[in-house]
Amino acid sequence: MLFKQQALLRQKLFVLGSLAIGSVLYLVARVGTLDRLQPICPIDSRLSTPEPEQIPLRTLQFKRGLLHELRKGNATKEQIRLHNLVQQLPQAIIIGVRKGGTRALLEMLNLHPAVVKASQEIHFFDNDQNYARGIDWYRGKMPFSFPHQITIEKSPAYFITDEVPERIFKMNSSIKLLIIVREPTTRAVSDYTQVLEGKERKNKTYHKFEKLAIDTNTCEVNTKYKAVRTSIYTKHLERWLKYFPVEQFHIVDGDRLITDPLPELQLVERFLHLPSRISQYNLYFNATRGFYCLRFNIVFNKCLAGSKGRIHPEVDPSVVTKLQRFFHPFNQKFYQITGRTFNWP
Ligand code: A3P
Repeated sequence: MLFKQQALLRQKLFVLGSLAIGSVLYLVARVGTLDRLQPICPIDSRLSTPEPEQIPLRTLQFKRGLLHELRKGNATKEQIRLHNLVQQLPQAIIIGVRKGGTRALLEMLNLHPAVVKASQEIHFFDNDQNYARGIDWYRGKMPFSFPHQITIEKSPAYFITDEVPERIFKMNSSIKLLIIVREPTTRAVSDYTQVLEGKERKNKTYHKFEKLAIDTNTCEVNTKYKAVRTSIYTKHLERWLKYFPVEQFHIVDGDRLITDPLPELQLVERFLHLPSRISQYNLYFNATRGFYCLRFNIVFNKCLAGSKGRIHPEVDPSVVTKLQRFFHPFNQKFYQITGRTFNWP
């Protein structure tokens, strides 16, 4: 009998102890989150309100809590209605460039309390079948958010697909467009590396980069090779400029996003008229990964998947030089149009 009572007491103490530890951990996590999330002004397409308004506390709590439940399909219709949650069309889109650092940019912007990201690439505007499903289908793919938050999606194929600028224009002619670029030859090699990995996984043979990038008959750069064409940024941008004024684009330096992300993110915050909320606290260098990773609070942090930051194959230096010379005049034009200059060779 006495033994039974002692066991019961031990059990109770264990439950109480676990509850106490759980509460402490919860409080610590909350303090970490609230620490960095200062009150901010409401964000919408007319983003010039000078007076910052407080973001309600529930926004902070629900951004990672309820929205997570919503993604998993666990939140009830009542919860959605009660908290005034909506699925909004994106007010900003990362339209490219493939392998420029589009995922890192989206995930880093999502650190901002007023930003909600569409996790998947939706491919609404570049895929005819998806586009035919209509704008409500697209909206249905968007995450739930509070009305004052902005939704951002990224589909890098948008940048290079002919039909996309007109289709986006028809949806929202004042949308904000983000383009993240890297030094064009490095980007082309990164593009090649991704395709190569896919082929290797399927046990398929694939040519060396040099063979694809250089036309063996003429010894000139092979402009039919998609990885080369994608890196001619100015050609693609010119198509977009038929629909949108240059002020509606913001160019992100993808090379700097790798080595020193915060200043690039601050420029984007400014472009989106968001108060500056992403701080050095949210970004820490992970020596094992060799990249910056994301810190939401003292409990929750994450690095990008291993498919981001692959080791590139060695490329013949003469081919690198040939490509750099080839891209040079296009780069100059790109600087001229965008007003953003890079130290590309
Ligand atoms: P590499 O794999 O060539 O290194 P995208 O998301 O558009 O496909 O771009 C992938 C690139 O994002 C990677 O190219 C990587 O260099 C870059 N990148 C930028 N910041 C990163 C980060 N914090 N973690 C991982 N990769 C990052």
